[in-house]
Amino acid sequence: MIREFIGNTPLRHCDALSTRYHTNIFIKEEFHNPGMSAKDRPALFMIEDAIAKKKIKPGGIFVEASSGNTGLGITLIAKKLGYRAKIFVSQSCSTEKIDLLIKAGADIEICENSNGLHDFNSTQFRAQSFASTHPNAYFTNQYYNTQNIRAHYKTTGPEIWKQTEGSITHFIAGVGTGGTISGAGRFLKEQRPNIKIWGIEPNGSILGHFLKQRTLPNDTTAFDPIEGIGRNFIPGSFDAAYVDHIFQVNCHETKRMANEYYSQTGIMTGFSSAAVIAALDRYADKMGFSKTDIVVLFFPDHGDRYISKLYNEHIHRPTPLQTSRHFNF
Ligand SMILES: Cc1ncc(COP(=O)(O)O)c(C=O)c1O
Repeated sequence: MIREFIGNTPLRHCDALSTRYHTNIFIKEEFHNPGMSAKDRPALFMIEDAIAKKKIKPGGIFVEASSGNTGLGITLIAKKLGYRAKIFVSQSCSTEKIDLLIKAGADIEICENSNGLHDFNSTQFRAQSFASTHPNAYFTNQYYNTQNIRAHYKTTGPEIWKQTEGSITHFIAGVGTGGTISGAGRFLKEQRPNIKIWGIEPNGSILGHFLKQRTLPNDTTAFDPIEGIGRNFIPGSFDAAYVDHIFQVNCHETKRMANEYYSQTGIMTGFSSAAVIAALDRYADKMGFSKTDIVVLFFPDHGDRYISKLYNEHIHRPTPLQTSRHFNF
């Protein structure tokens, strides 16, 4: 069944980053999942839970608001199990992800923003209103579904613990819904209370502020558009109890680091993965790694879904060959 193919992704040593920061850096490569992202994990848990609790009947429609990856996971799993998928994505979603969703069979709607349930033009509001006005449609609602955190608590955390043989000292991941960092973070902290669980978000996102002050900032501004991470509301799937600190990076340095990392390693990272690399670059002194630390960076997806956003400046297409020939008979 599809469950067997989700998770158990590789953890690879990264020579380039380990050398650069004089420590031991490993990368959890989530693009090996069937939908090529970490979000297959919560998608599976949310779908299985809804079916088990009879919240949807066979042939029904799973509905989700997504920056693309959860939507793709939902679509692939739903199809496999005999259901359909309706996915609300925001207009900032990469064209590659939109094409993948359509190809996978999702019915998609593009919304103005993903600013949460209180905004009429958001993916979340539209998804909720669709599900409540259509029979046999179920909104998986990753921002408030406990199965999101649970998926990472039950799978991501234990895998990393086992793969590092219990030696991990730092876990660093981008924060969007908060499911990854809260679930994996909770599991890892239960094993090793002094482990550092660090989140990464774009400039202007409010989760770091909330973590520090336990209040919302007076003003919210648009946050830097790094796909998959950053919010201007606090999702229910963000559990501040298991996160030590959130570092902010900007879009420009993230793009620069994606391309620098690509030139050095030949590996195209996803957008939010590049944000994690950008955070190492900017905050290395503050992070203060030692030679014996075991640092795990979480890479939720691959750069091939962001060629048009991250890597196209460095692509020089050859002009088409002039092949017209004139034959005189
Ligand atoms: C590419 C990417 N990175 C990071 C995240 C954030 O993960 P989480 O929602 O578990 O915080 C997402 C979430 O959709 C994502 O798609």
